Amino acid sequence: MMRPRALHKPEPAIPDLDTLLPELDAALRADGNWGAPASYIPELARIDPAQFGISVVTADGRLHQAGDTKTRFSVQSITKVFTLAIALGRSGDQLWQRVGREPSGLAFNSIVQLEREEGRPRNPFINAGAIVTTDEVLSGRAPRDALAEIVQFIRTAAGSEDIHINDRVAASETAHGHRNFALAHFLASFGNLKNPPEMTLGTYFHHCALEMTTTQLAMAGRFLMGSPTGPRLLSTARVRRLNALMLTCGHYDGSGDFAYRVGIPGKSGVGGGILAVVPGKASIAVWSPGLNVYGNSLKGTDALARLARAMNWSIF
Ligand code: DON
Repeated sequence: MMRPRALHKPEPAIPDLDTLLPELDAALRADGNWGAPASYIPELARIDPAQFGISVVTADGRLHQAGDTKTRFSVQSITKVFTLAIALGRSGDQLWQRVGREPSGLAFNSIVQLEREEGRPRNPFINAGAIVTTDEVLSGRAPRDALAEIVQFIRTAAGSEDIHINDRVAASETAHGHRNFALAHFLASFGNLKNPPEMTLGTYFHHCALEMTTTQLAMAGRFLMGSPTGPRLLSTARVRRLNALMLTCGHYDGSGDFAYRVGIPGKSGVGGGILAVVPGKASIAVWSPGLNVYGNSLKGTDALARLARAMNWSIF
């Protein structure tokens, strides 16, 4: 007697991360095509693009990793996630009077929308929005005190005190940060800065210049996956909202492409890092300094696309 044909193919087995990550690392290195690091911050432009690291912390607290996971890199815009978490903790939903929650569809450092929308940045992850959240965290304090709070939040999240600001990178960006100065002065002209623009920007440049390894960054992202193993730094409702913003706005005008290819919340930095979250399952940090056309890590995005596919981690 003929057996009835199965209607559905069986789900492929989920691979073991300790096997998958070294394979992914080898495959990406074999591909070549590393892209070029950010050129507008001279200290970042000098970095060898042929580097790649990936670290994954799963909900059971275990760490899996491969590649250059011990190299410190400039986390840049990834700190905007932590600054937003602190700003929301300090000001609650009042923050949304100063900054929106919509994708901008424009580059991270674009100026044009800010004038059209009367000084209220589209979201907290484009530069203008992050300058506002930094201004909220600063709130009349000395920059040193605001920075101490930001650094301590990240150290607590990561469970590591060995996380520091690279002053050379901060100075390099300050010397070449004409667009950010323009954005900050635009915000001030619309009455959307509480502190002098130079003071807010100094704080912003310094938190962007924090350096971490992928191991530290994946550990720091544990609070966003909502697992019981990491520190509980935010309420569940706020964690969900932060993830929603990372999904819709975390890669600027490349956010749609990232959601399409990877399918999980993520926040990129121009230093080549990406922090990505699989709600309830994993916190992932990837780093490779060469960037794609949107200013997001080329190989980092490829790695996340392959990892999410292999692990069936897309949230869709
Ligand atoms: O303000 C800047 O331009 C940098 N400190 C951060 C930009 C950034 O990381 C964009 N992300 N891809």
